[in-house]
Amino acid sequence: VFNAKKAILESKIKNFKSLPKLSNIVKSESSSILIYDEKLEKVDRRFSKWTNQFDLAIKVRAGEKLKSLAMIEKVSRMALKSSQNWSRKHTCVYVAGGGSVGDFGGFFASIFLRGVALVHIPTTWLAAIDSAHGGKTGLNVLGLKNQLGTFHSAQEVWIVESFFQNQSLERFEDCLGEVAKMSLLDRSIWSHLKTRLTPSDLIRVLPRLIKAKYKVVTQDPFETEGLRIFLNLGHSLGHLLESHYKMGHGRAVRLGLFFSLWLSRKKGILSNQNHAKLTSKMESIFGFQAAELKAFRPPQRQKMNQIILRDKKMSSQTQLQFVGLKGAGEPILLRISVAEFLDLTEEYWRSL
Ligand SMILES: NC(=O)c1ccc[n+]([C@@H]2O[C@H](COP(=O)([O-])OP(=O)(O)OC[C@H]3O[C@@H](n4cnc5c(N)ncnc54)[C@H](O)[C@@H]3O)[C@@H](O)[C@H]2O)c1
Ligand SMILES: [Zn+2]
Repeated sequence: VFNAKKAILESKIKNFKSLPKLSNIVKSESSSILIYDEKLEKVDRRFSKWTNQFDLAIKVRAGEKLKSLAMIEKVSRMALKSSQNWSRKHTCVYVAGGGSVGDFGGFFASIFLRGVALVHIPTTWLAAIDSAHGGKTGLNVLGLKNQLGTFHSAQEVWIVESFFQNQSLERFEDCLGEVAKMSLLDRSIWSHLKTRLTPSDLIRVLPRLIKAKYKVVTQDPFETEGLRIFLNLGHSLGHLLESHYKMGHGRAVRLGLFFSLWLSRKKGILSNQNHAKLTSKMESIFGFQAAELKAFRPPQRQKMNQIILRDKKMSSQTQLQFVGLKGAGEPILLRISVAEFLDLTEEYWRSL
């Protein structure tokens, strides 16, 4: 079985020229549960037949509603009815879908029979680049995202060709915020990208992006060492926009990235010249426009304050951990007060 995680970590591949086919993918453990996005049956007509190899295949609907305790209970009941003499050691949960199915299925695998092996089969760009790697799982409670969760890394990650051919342009564009973030965090990716990124280019750079994420998460698997915080580049303003305007995550992050660069220049850690270079490359490679934010009015200060305090990047009651950049591949942690962050956000908005 082709395991992208292993191949990438062992540096066996630098570029995917193409991706493996669904028929190459077979389960290895004796007792197996597949949790999959119902949409995949339409994406690849061989998918339904492929699911027959699993002892139990559970179809779910993707989206934030899936990431709930009620759905965990439902799936647990289905699984326990089929798994009466299964041993924990020889059971594996396979999860095929985008980030929502991955977060849900990963959570389930981490608690089923006190935790069983997990294989991720990411089927969206975002899941392949980001959510299938790093072991974070998450459920939503009280309308708040990812408030319950565990760390449970997939032992294998399979990336399959057919899922990436038919994704809409919108989904491709949505993942570019995270692609730009990883590129800004990793100088070798940043300098590798030279022309406007297309979906087929993205297949080729996928291993580099995945490797860059593992470089961070393997040093800080449980978010205790303070390194994983760098993956939040662009996310302070990003989460604010996502939460206040119900903007897609990718779009929110890309606007947040421009703000991180602006704030880094303002704080004197990024030179004017580098700021100009980085922002113009974001425009030419990814087609982003910082001025897109002008279409929105800054939320009221009290509202912004509320959202920021709920975000998980506070280092104390009043201090915020903000990821700035000294240059491509050189993130730096800035501690700024919430009041200053709000002042700077308003100033940035006016400067556009
Ligand atoms: N655990 C992590 O580290 C991490 C990181 C980033 C994001 N996330 C989570 O990921 C989720 C977002 O991920 P997402 O954008 O993949 O969302 P998603 O799972 O909701 O998928 C988005 C849409 O694409 C469809 N889809 C899935 N595969 C497809 C395919 N091959 N072709 C066509 N359509 C397909 C889905 O049915 C759905 O409608 C959020 O819940 C977020 O919190 C988790
Ligand atoms: Zn993100």
